[in-house]
Amino acid sequence: MPTRTADRRPRLTRVDGPEELRRRCDRIRAAGLSLGLVPTMGALHAGHRQLIQRSRAECDRTVVSIFVNPTQFGPAEDFDRYPRPLDTDLAVCTELGVDLAYVPSDAVMYPEGFSTRVNPWGALAETLEGARRPGHFDGVATVVTKLLVTARPDRAYFGHKDAQQCAVVRRLAADLDTGTEIVVCPTVRDADGLALSSRNARLDAAERLQALAIPAALAAADAAFRLGERDAEAIRDLVLRRLAESPGLAVDYVAVVDAETFLPVTRMHVRCEILIAARIGRTRLIDVLTPGTDERLAVGVGG
Ligand code: PAJ
Repeated sequence: MPTRTADRRPRLTRVDGPEELRRRCDRIRAAGLSLGLVPTMGALHAGHRQLIQRSRAECDRTVVSIFVNPTQFGPAEDFDRYPRPLDTDLAVCTELGVDLAYVPSDAVMYPEGFSTRVNPWGALAETLEGARRPGHFDGVATVVTKLLVTARPDRAYFGHKDAQQCAVVRRLAADLDTGTEIVVCPTVRDADGLALSSRNARLDAAERLQALAIPAALAAADAAFRLGERDAEAIRDLVLRRLAESPGLAVDYVAVVDAETFLPVTRMHVRCEILIAARIGRTRLIDVLTPGTDERLAVGVGG
């Protein structure tokens, strides 16, 4: 049995390239140990911590990747402004007992001549985020595939906050026979209900108040569902009405979809998700709720 005592665990090892990552992960598997992968773009917060802790609890060894993936950002998006507090992130990994931190450079991930792309297609990848952010899921799928192929983890951990990303990754893991179990963890929120995101830091106090309409609208929809409402259009209207109470918030979409296919539903069932994307000033936020589940929102926020 592998031991988990702190004194016998090696310290965090930083790995910069795919050959070394493969070698170290092969060694872990050869020792009969299970491996969990947590892909991130860094700027680690409690949402990421939760994924890491889950992997630590379920797997013998954990690798966290920290890579701000250029191919998933559109030309008008915030790639250059994306926060990169690497030292703090590595300290978080050390604190949480991560074994390997994979921190490749852009040139290592996408060397000159790179010309392969993983292209998830069909309704799942082309609707909602896929429609608003052309090429985004190609970028996500390409980088996640590279990570899965290199590390070959038993499990890979993703946050439900990015629900469509979870569905796309689940699909790609199945379609490409990666043999990796995709584990989806609940959305972590601040005390006021706002889903944690590195982009929240860009909201000023007034914008943040406006943003609270998002979890409040999801909470209202959840309450209606629990009272028996099953008409998806009625739920959608309710969410839109609640969001309209925040004039500083520009709704991008509100959708009620099947969690696997991302096709809109007319009647709500147990595997439905309510998705919101909205802009506040220059900041775009997304949030999601599966109504009727244990994934609870903060109560008493903004009505
Ligand atoms: P990033 O935004 O850094 O998120 C890394 C993981 O943390 C994702 O699975 C995301 O869903 C999860 N996460 C973020 N905020 C969360 C929250 N409040 N609660 C729970 N989980 C949360 O998502 C990406 O990076 C990238 O697209 C990536 C998968 C790393 C590919 O580049």
